[in-house]
Amino acid sequence: MNTDIESIRQAVRDFKIENAAQLEEFRLQFVSRKGKIAALFTGLGKFAAEERAAVGKVLNELKNEAQQRFDQAKLNLESSIHTQRSATDDITLQAPPRPVGSLHPLTLTLEEIKKVFYRLGFSIAEGPEIEDDFHNFTSLNFPPEHPARDMQDTFYIHKDAERIDKDLLLRTHTSPVQIRKMLEQKPPIRSIMPGRVYRNESVTYKSYFLFHQVEALYVDKNVNFAELKETLVMLAEMVFNRKVEYRLRPSFFPFTEPSLEMDIWWEQPGKPGKWLEILGAGMVHPNVLKSVDIDPEVYSGFALGMGVERMTSLRYGIDDIRIYYENDIRFLEQFQ
Ligand code: PHE
Repeated sequence: MNTDIESIRQAVRDFKIENAAQLEEFRLQFVSRKGKIAALFTGLGKFAAEERAAVGKVLNELKNEAQQRFDQAKLNLESSIHTQRSATDDITLQAPPRPVGSLHPLTLTLEEIKKVFYRLGFSIAEGPEIEDDFHNFTSLNFPPEHPARDMQDTFYIHKDAERIDKDLLLRTHTSPVQIRKMLEQKPPIRSIMPGRVYRNESVTYKSYFLFHQVEALYVDKNVNFAELKETLVMLAEMVFNRKVEYRLRPSFFPFTEPSLEMDIWWEQPGKPGKWLEILGAGMVHPNVLKSVDIDPEVYSGFALGMGVERMTSLRYGIDDIRIYYENDIRFLEQFQ
């Protein structure tokens, strides 16, 4: 019996395990319940009671050794599978390309708008989305209780649920950033203000409770209407990447005087052409300059503002605004 144990111990140690087949062979011979070591345990009964404990101990040690050898060999084989290469692998081949994401169409349009204004030497200014009445309305020449405030369905933030408090609000346009910019910097000012704005509108194919605007503000001595007009035309032609036929219609905003809206002529194959409004603009109202301590006798300025969703929908022929916020990969993938 002891010589059996010794020779099996030697066999366990010498067994070559270099692949899965050899590992399985090892398992069958030494680890399995039908293997050689198990058979030795069966033979234990033949020993006299005094000897049985000592032989049993040696057998247990052998059994553990075989198990450990098996476990270790199995681990080694598994980890080497990942590093094994066959001789026919070309390790200089490039890895297959991973799919890359794409920019959101709103971002693409915004990039295009920014390019126009970078050329003209405008910087970018940003402001908070939670505003107060002063920056969003009062300083922009909206008189208290003036119906113009109702033009923009405002979300108010009530600090006290019991009390209606109309001071804190979600900004309804990016114009409050004009005010912040003019309070922080003396003219000349040339900045654009991109950002998210909020209005309490129902969700339909053409309206949403949030959207994006870009505003441009230019304040200096002798800024005139001709410069505004040139800027508008350049903007439209760069964003739509073609010569545009346009018209400037008189309009009203409390913070500009005179105010205008710009339409461009839009033709699509198979449909009658039509005028489409793309933005609002005007010369900065003297009251706005006064509210930020800029002397309207010395300085003048122009401002313009547009909706990024609207521009994007026109550029790509998108007819439902909700799709911008759904993160549907099938939609987004089309903008690679
Ligand atoms: N703030 C205006 C709006 O949201 C747009 C605008 C900006 C008009 C600047 C004129 C000048 O409707």
